[in-house]
Amino acid sequence: SDALSKDAPSLSLSPVILTQDDLKKIAAYKAVEFVESGMVVGLGTGSTAKHAVDRIADLLRQGKLKNIVGIPTSKKTHQQAVSLGIPLSDLNAHPTVDISIDGADEVDPGLNLVKGRGGSLLREKMIESASKKFIVIVDETKLVKHVGANGAMPVEVVPFCWKFTQERLQKLFEYAGCVAKLRTSGGENNEAFVTDNGNYIVDLFFERDIGDLKAAGDAILRLAGVVEHGMFIDMATTVIVAGELGVRLIPD
Ligand code: 5RP
Repeated sequence: SDALSKDAPSLSLSPVILTQDDLKKIAAYKAVEFVESGMVVGLGTGSTAKHAVDRIADLLRQGKLKNIVGIPTSKKTHQQAVSLGIPLSDLNAHPTVDISIDGADEVDPGLNLVKGRGGSLLREKMIESASKKFIVIVDETKLVKHVGANGAMPVEVVPFCWKFTQERLQKLFEYAGCVAKLRTSGGENNEAFVTDNGNYIVDLFFERDIGDLKAAGDAILRLAGVVEHGMFIDMATTVIVAGELGVRLIPD
């Protein structure tokens, strides 16, 4: 449709090599086709979701979308949306969100996700679980057989005695060869990364399959000191995947 064909990078049979960022943009533009005037829209966080926020602002400017209310999933997205003039609100004022569009770190065939490697998992989960439609936008590199087997599974924890919580998390997944690491900000003093909510993140790395995702998620949430985890189970309604051969929707 026209949203994809006008400004998005072309998917024609030209010898143009699409970058990963082009693919992210293609997925993002496709997702914004589902946004209609008057909707309350959850605005995701990350390098893929950023393109969707840009696109929504473009369409508002062009008058092709009207009366959108954006609910940002992070301070960063809030800033981006403000700078683009997108009207914003929050879940207190709009407890039901029509549609959310966000990226993901991993997507499995059952549309289970890992999110939060960018650190915004709590607000993302609050807003996306309040959404009638949750559209996930990814390039092909994010598709995995099993979530949790391909890198960090983030858990947001309160700073109070974080080490105690980290150790309990690691112990919980001893059977899966888990290593739990406090995320650092990469600054000079290697200080802890602090989320938008003033919390820390413990990243879990598994050597083996963690088994039932829902049971694993529930066990994490039962630990005192844990705020939220980055497994988004049974939440995505559609995943849009952009690859070299085109864009596809799951389910189609
Ligand atoms: C942030 C997230 C992001 O959606 C996820 O990290 C994907 O980011 P990107 O689009 O930059 O790859 O969950 O908390």
